[in-house]
Amino acid sequence: MRKMRTHSAPWRAAAVLASVLLVGSVAACGNSDTGGGSKDDGKITLGFSQVGAESGWRTANTTSIKDAATAAGIELKFDDAQQKQENQIKAIRNYIQQKVDVIAFSPVVESGWDTVLKEAKDADIPVILTDRSVDSADKSLYKTFLGSDFIKEGRLAGEWLVEQKKTASGPVNIVELQGTTGAAPANDRKKGFAEAIAANPNLKVIASQTGDFTRAGGKQVMEQFLKANPKIDVLFAHNDDMGLGALEAITAAGKVPGKDITIITVDAVKDGMQALADGKFNFIAECSPLLGPQLMDLAKKVHAGEEVPARIETEETTFTQEQAKEALPNRKY
Ligand code: AHR
Repeated sequence: MRKMRTHSAPWRAAAVLASVLLVGSVAACGNSDTGGGSKDDGKITLGFSQVGAESGWRTANTTSIKDAATAAGIELKFDDAQQKQENQIKAIRNYIQQKVDVIAFSPVVESGWDTVLKEAKDADIPVILTDRSVDSADKSLYKTFLGSDFIKEGRLAGEWLVEQKKTASGPVNIVELQGTTGAAPANDRKKGFAEAIAANPNLKVIASQTGDFTRAGGKQVMEQFLKANPKIDVLFAHNDDMGLGALEAITAAGKVPGKDITIITVDAVKDGMQALADGKFNFIAECSPLLGPQLMDLAKKVHAGEEVPARIETEETTFTQEQAKEALPNRKY
């Protein structure tokens, strides 16, 4: 009978060490193939920097992203930047250091991202822009931009007003509550609205100021508008929350919102839709926050090295008071 060969203790130790090194080098190869830090469990890690929690829209957007990550089996690292660009840059640098697989963010303002985006590119980590875009000339710094057409939203708001006021014989005084200064939706909604109302010279924006996309900001700035301007016919608020804050100021000033002052907003979150159905708002251009599922799909694709379209536009609509009454019972956010 042949004797089984047994290894001596030093041989066994050497064999264990060799297999550990082999497994380690295979894992390292896997990481570099995927361009940035896949873990052994095969899960994609997505670092996401959110603008903040300034509005109902933002809360719905955060929920959509967190739920979609869980459903897609993606490990989400989430950071709330509290409306500060420096916090977003810090979060993105942390994600680069942690070697996440994909970075996504909703830029609080449009400008000033080139340096950090270049750092992500140099680290071979693909970046996805969601909700808001950046004004970088070098489009290779990010893979895609998923979000709304904010100029169109402003234009739809303006076109509705032009139609409503087509028989107005005298001046129609408009006040505008802008979103966060420098943010893409503030710049673009202002632009789209101004372009549309230019069709009727009676329509004039007599005051325009930022309310930072918050209810408190909307209320405070509307109070100032009402004090400074005895005749306000229309309010265009860049989001529902500022419009809802302005409602308080308008009511406190003894005016009837939706009647004495026509109110147009953007978003169509539940509270805004309720105000529209109740006759306090007059028109809303929709901006959908439900970007989570599309974002997770894109994260998987860019991680796998697949080509994705440079721009993916969210499908949206508009609501009158009657349409809001119909849509409200099934509204998801
Ligand atoms: O970028 C989307 C905008 O940001 C929403 O219209 C607004 O409510 C939010 O704060």
